[in-house]
Amino acid sequence: MNLFDVYPINDITIVKAKGSYVWDDKGEQYLDLYGGHAVISIGHTHPHWVKRIEEQLEKIAFYSNSIKIPLQQELAKKLGKVSGKEEYQLFLCNSGAEANENALKLASFHNGRKKIIAFSKSFHGRTSLAVAATDNKNYVAPVNESDNVIFLPFNDEEALEECFEQNGKKISSVIIEGIQGVGGINVAEEGFLKAIRRLCDKYGAVYIADSVQCGFGRSGKFFSHDFAGVNADIYTMAKGMGNGFPVAGIIVAPHIKPKHFILGTTFGGNHLACAAALAVLETIEAEKLMGNAVMVGKYLRDELQSIPELKNVRGRGLMIGFDVPEELKDLKKNLLLNQKVFTGEAKPNVIRLLPSLALKRRDAEDFIEALKEEISQLTSEQDVQVSDTTKA
Ligand SMILES: Cc1ncc(COP(=O)(O)O)c(C=O)c1O
Repeated sequence: MNLFDVYPINDITIVKAKGSYVWDDKGEQYLDLYGGHAVISIGHTHPHWVKRIEEQLEKIAFYSNSIKIPLQQELAKKLGKVSGKEEYQLFLCNSGAEANENALKLASFHNGRKKIIAFSKSFHGRTSLAVAATDNKNYVAPVNESDNVIFLPFNDEEALEECFEQNGKKISSVIIEGIQGVGGINVAEEGFLKAIRRLCDKYGAVYIADSVQCGFGRSGKFFSHDFAGVNADIYTMAKGMGNGFPVAGIIVAPHIKPKHFILGTTFGGNHLACAAALAVLETIEAEKLMGNAVMVGKYLRDELQSIPELKNVRGRGLMIGFDVPEELKDLKKNLLLNQKVFTGEAKPNVIRLLPSLALKRRDAEDFIEALKEEISQLTSEQDVQVSDTTKA
C-alpha cells in the first residue's frame, strides 16, 4: 500500500529529538525553529513530559468519557491557573480543527443562530465548519461550501461594524486568530479585538478566539488575544498543548451553559492526553517559559529588523514572521540544506519562526549567524549573475 500523497515533503528522516534540536538517520543535527509546525512548546522529549506520560502509561492509557477521569479536573484546574481563566469550563478533544468545529457548533447551540464571521487569510482547520471558515478555496471541497460564513478584511473595524449593522441578530459567532499563522504571521490589532468584543456583546454573538497556533504561551501571554485586555467567550487550543501528544480543547465562558450530548468525543480527554497536557503546563510554569518567549522573541525580532534584506519583521514572543524578497527566495531551503536549520513558511514569501518556548538565547544567536551567512551567500551569487549578464 502507498501513502496517500497529500504533503510535499523534505527528503529528511528525523529519528531523534531533544530540546530545540533534532537528528536525522545519518546523525546530522538540526536546529528546530519550526517546532514541528508550532507544536513543540516545552522542547522535544522534555524529561518531565516523558516521565509523566510513561508513569501514566503504566497505570492506564485510555477509558471512555462515561466514567470519572480525575486527571481531566486536574488539567482544568491547572489550565485555569496558568491561563488566568479560572472560571471557564474545559471541553477536551483531539485536534485544532476539532476544537474550532466544536466552538462554532457550541456558539450556534448557544444562540440558535447560523452566521459566522471569519477574516481574510484565516486558517481554522480542515473539518467541515472549520474549513468553511478558512480563507483558502483550495482546502474547501464543494460539500464544505457554506453561505453561513461571511469573510471580512482582517483588522478592518469599519467593515465589521457594517456587517453587524446589516446582519445583526443573525450572527452566531466571530472567529479570529490572535496572530494569523498559516496566513503569514499577521497580528490582530488590539482595537480590532476590542471591537469584536463590543459588537458581540451588543448583538448577542459569541467571540471565538482561535488560539490553536498562537496560544499556550507562544506569544508571551497565554492566549495572544489577551493583549487586547478583553475576554473571548470561547478559546480553542491544540498544537503546543501536548508538546507533540495529540490533545486539544476549548475553554468556555461561564455564561455559556453545557447540556448533555451537545458535544462529545471518544478519545478526547483520555488519561494519556491529560498527563501530557499537564506536563506541558507544569513545565511552562516551573521554567517560566512565557517569560523566555518574550525575551528570546524580542532578541530575534530586534536582530531580524537590523538585517536590511528582510522586510516587515512581525509577530509576538516566539511567533515571528518576515518577508523575504524574490532574490532570496531560496533562503528557507538553504537554511535547511546548508545550515541545518528548520524554519516554517507562509506563501508566497514569508519565513515563519515557531520554535519551542524554551529556545535558548545561544541557539537564537546561532540562527541569526546562519541566516546572515545564507543571505550573504545568496546575495553574492546574485551579484555574480548580474555581472555575467552585463558582460554578455
Ligand atoms: C490557527 C489554526 N487553527 C486551527 C488549525 C488546525 O489544527 P489541526 O491541524 O490540529 O486540526 C491550525 C493548524 O495549523 C491553525 O494554525
